[in-house]
Amino acid sequence: MNGQLTVRPATPFDVWFTHHCGNDPVSRSMSLGGKPIPRDTHQEWYRKKLAQPSSYFFIAMLEGARIGIIRLQPDQYFGSDCLEIAVTLAPEFRGLGLGANVMIVALAELPKGVRVVASIKEENTASIRMVLRVGFQFDVETTRPGCVIYRWDSSCRPPAR
Ligand SMILES: CC(C)(COP(=O)(O)OP(=O)(O)OC[C@H]1O[C@@H](n2cnc3c(N)ncnc32)[C@H](O)[C@@H]1OP(=O)(O)O)[C@@H](O)C(=O)NCCC(=O)NCCS
Repeated sequence: MNGQLTVRPATPFDVWFTHHCGNDPVSRSMSLGGKPIPRDTHQEWYRKKLAQPSSYFFIAMLEGARIGIIRLQPDQYFGSDCLEIAVTLAPEFRGLGLGANVMIVALAELPKGVRVVASIKEENTASIRMVLRVGFQFDVETTRPGCVIYRWDSSCRPPAR
């Protein structure tokens, strides 16, 4: 799909768009939580996430339309020296080859030297292929039950295709 991809910080007005991205059955099945998210639960979660320090919450835009969300935040499982990334496209924009480019645009917004980790459910083939396309490297040392771990820093390059 052609058109200019950008990211911008999420705002309180994106609350229901972010619910739309994260609450469909595919998103829920690929998250560690799993269950549908009630609207009031999401509202409270979103308010806290926007205020969370040391984190980034981006909205991905294609030609002025919102297409997905990218969050980067510290996670105690991986320690304070890296940010865990989560990418979720709105259901109507999945399967179009946009995910990797959305990640590349978001990663370019980070300060130099930031290290990023992706923790992906083993069965989430689309997500695994997406991070490989961006240049993430499989982490053979870190384990998490049911997940595979990939890492990225600014020295990583997308593989030649
Ligand atoms: C994961 C996600 C961000 C990927 O973005 P996307 O734009 O839909 O991905 P693409 O269309 O570029 O597909 C990525 C790759 O996976 C493949 N793929 C897509 N859907 C697939 C599926 N259901 N099974 C197997 N492969 C699949 C594509 O062919 C592509 O392969 P390629 O890189 O070799 O061409 C998006 O699908 C999404 O938001 N999913 C729901 C939330 C989620 O799982 N987030 C990640 C949590 S870690």
